[in-house]
Amino acid sequence: MSTFQAPKGTYDLTPPRSATFLAVREAISAPLRDSGYGYIETPGFENVELFARGVGESTDIVTKEMYTLTTKGGDQLALRPEGTASVLRAALEANLHKAGNLPVKLWYSGSYYRYERPQAGRYRHFSQVGAEAIGTEDPALDAELIILADQAYRALGLRQFRILLNSLGDKECRPVYREALQTFLRDLDLDEETRRRIEINPLRVLDDKRADVQKQLTDAPKLRDYLCDACKAYHEEVRALITAAGVVFEDDEKLVRGLDYYTRTTFEFVHDGLGSQSAVGGGGRYDGLSEMIGGPELPSVGWALGVDRTVLALEAEGVELDLPAVTSVYAVPLGDEARRVLFGVVTELRRAGIAADFAFGGRGLKGAMKSANRSGARYTLVAGERDLAEGVVQLKDMESGEQSAVPLAEAAAELAKRLG
Ligand code: HAM
Repeated sequence: MSTFQAPKGTYDLTPPRSATFLAVREAISAPLRDSGYGYIETPGFENVELFARGVGESTDIVTKEMYTLTTKGGDQLALRPEGTASVLRAALEANLHKAGNLPVKLWYSGSYYRYERPQAGRYRHFSQVGAEAIGTEDPALDAELIILADQAYRALGLRQFRILLNSLGDKECRPVYREALQTFLRDLDLDEETRRRIEINPLRVLDDKRADVQKQLTDAPKLRDYLCDACKAYHEEVRALITAAGVVFEDDEKLVRGLDYYTRTTFEFVHDGLGSQSAVGGGGRYDGLSEMIGGPELPSVGWALGVDRTVLALEAEGVELDLPAVTSVYAVPLGDEARRVLFGVVTELRRAGIAADFAFGGRGLKGAMKSANRSGARYTLVAGERDLAEGVVQLKDMESGEQSAVPLAEAAAELAKRLG
């Protein structure tokens, strides 16, 4: 193994592709920032207990996929596998919910870690942009979040995504359904592990991808038939609000999600160009999570969109983001004196807010012009001894190819004018 190799299931973001990741994070967070969501950042690790209680002892995420460690001081920590439990923990710790301004609306962007079997679109280190609206039960809030995610994806130019929507019921009706489902499942022909799952998390059995299991599930009791009136009414209102916003979705009563904290509204954004790892984002309501981690009753809703898979989805659809060139002006000095002078001009440009770069390393004209081209700069400044003797620099418009001599003292101002 080469020492230059990133750990299994991880990859580095390097230019130029890394620019797409930044643009995706920006595009996903923009609608949130415009809708009253404030930025929150939490540590990359938490006490294991938070996720065990929050995400759920019976989930794959907690039982199989957490990176856990014991510190030298004896603390049991885990690299965060997701953001919701951490964000809620932080909001409670800072008493944000007591400021009298509910819901507390927060957005975040960061790295998450799951020890999963790596494959295309599934990594051990990945990144999400997420949003959580804490402390309010209101179908308009669920609708707002779904609409904002849809808006973000459309703004990026994605078209081949679908929104799957379901309701998982609440603490009144879900236990009744759970029992009915367990009774049904116990009579089926299933392997040991699945039988264990029936007792811990029977809804997850519905999610089993194997055909022989799915075949036996045709007559399984449907959650829809067990939803209480309050849950039904709530779900209808969410559906009506997103429909009125022109957001297209599909009802998917099989959608259960891989985290235990969900109640009522759950949804997933799936992209059809991604193969088996098709979920680009997901979320839902988690009215009981605060109490599960020792807080007060705070009904909440949120989502997280996977940045890695969103980039893969863009690539699958062949969407080219309109990324503006990073550098506007590229300076090419020929000789020591020109290097000093042009370096001064570049500094002046940068201080004036114009993105400028410089041919470092004293390369020849040909190589330096190649770099200028590659930088995407609209203008290059070239100066050699003769130019300096005349007190000018050569200003070249890289689009038209036109070149003209500009007095050195006016170069920065002229560029500022041309670049608007
Ligand atoms: P999640 O469905 O586990 O939900 O993850 C959300 C998104 O993160 C997925 O749809 C996917 O795009 C991305 N993702 C998850 N695991 C991986 C992986 N191994 N490799 C690449 N991408 C991955 C949550 O994390 C919840 N906290 C969402 C939420 C927020 N619910 C309420 N609020």
